[in-house]
Amino acid sequence: MRVLLDPRRPASPGSRLGAEALRDLYRPPRGRWVRSNMVTTLDGSAVGADGRSGSVNTAPDHRVFALLRDHADAVLVGAGTVRDEGYTRVRPTRHSPVPAALVAVTRSGRVPDGLRTPVEGRGDGLLVTCEGAGAKALRAARSALGEDAVLVCGGPSVDLPAALDALAARGLRHVLLEGGPSLLGTALAAGVVDEMATTIAPAVVGGDFRRIVTGPPLAEPGGVGVRPHLLVEEAGTLLGLWRVARADGRFRPPPAVRTAREWDVRPCRHRTARATVEVHHLGRSPCPPHQPPASPTRPDCTGPAGSRWSRRWGRSTRPRRRRCAASSTRRSAREP
Ligand SMILES: NC(=O)c1ccc[n+]([C@@H]2O[C@H](COP(=O)([O-])OP(=O)(O)OC[C@H]3O[C@@H](n4cnc5c(N)ncnc54)[C@H](OP(=O)(O)O)[C@@H]3O)[C@@H](O)[C@H]2O)c1
Repeated sequence: MRVLLDPRRPASPGSRLGAEALRDLYRPPRGRWVRSNMVTTLDGSAVGADGRSGSVNTAPDHRVFALLRDHADAVLVGAGTVRDEGYTRVRPTRHSPVPAALVAVTRSGRVPDGLRTPVEGRGDGLLVTCEGAGAKALRAARSALGEDAVLVCGGPSVDLPAALDALAARGLRHVLLEGGPSLLGTALAAGVVDEMATTIAPAVVGGDFRRIVTGPPLAEPGGVGVRPHLLVEEAGTLLGLWRVARADGRFRPPPAVRTAREWDVRPCRHRTARATVEVHHLGRSPCPPHQPPASPTRPDCTGPAGSRWSRRWGRSTRPRRRRCAASSTRRSAREP
């Protein structure tokens, strides 16, 4: 993979990227962030001749698809795509041992099959729907997935900003919207997409297939503004991140990107009934020292109750022992 455009490192166009450097470039900003991820052919089709996006994917696209998921708290996807693409709950990976939740959006309230079956170790499955689904469908969804897993956001149709607020309240702040084209169209119209990750596959399929955004025209006359933030290329596949303009046409000021250092273990102290323990936080969430630990026997830092944040990053470890000055002196004395 080589860099074509990276505003953070203007001197590096053309440089080759290893897996970790690529992961860093796609690291999301701090705070709430909605990023879409779609693949399109050069002639603008969201699918191949078989009607599925899988047939136009390339190896570099697969790699970025996977790392975007690793960075996400939730994968938001239209129920149509869950059905058409045979989605199942998200698997854990080496980089994301607690996988993202799979959140299906549906107006009808019908639970897609891929959401129904919890598989050992996989992420949660949530359904976002609205009152318009009707009492019968909502009852069926709750009995299939559980009361807590069905978020009713909006009256006749799904209110996406409210749905994202509800996800954030559960600690799912970085949302990856994987389509399909109808959901992405509504999300752009609602102004909730901060950034679009887009892959241009080196293929031309012709035909009359749908594009990556469908629905009514977005904004007159020129559509929603986007500007490139990152462009990389491998074997003819062009991948990039495009920042999306707000309704007033301006771009959100670039938020601070988490540095690798911030992903390091950060210690803080919590007092339990018996002792002061050192708790190490991995990741973005600030340490809440004001919050008492859940219990003296499990002194993890809690975060919002039951949240993914607390499960993922609140963990207790023994403080690291430092090498003492004398031992390092002895070691250097032995060195030639
Ligand atoms: N190129 C790519 O990167 C990419 C990515 C994803 C999908 N695709 C392709 O896109 C095709 C599917 O397109 P699609 O537009 O039908 O996908 P979609 O947006 O995933 O599915 C549409 C369905 O999702 C629900 N939905 C979507 N937006 C909603 C909203 N704002 N509010 C409430 N419900 C909403 C509705 O489900 P209910 O009917 O249950 O109400 C709707 O019928 C497939 O061929 C798939 O392979 C391509």
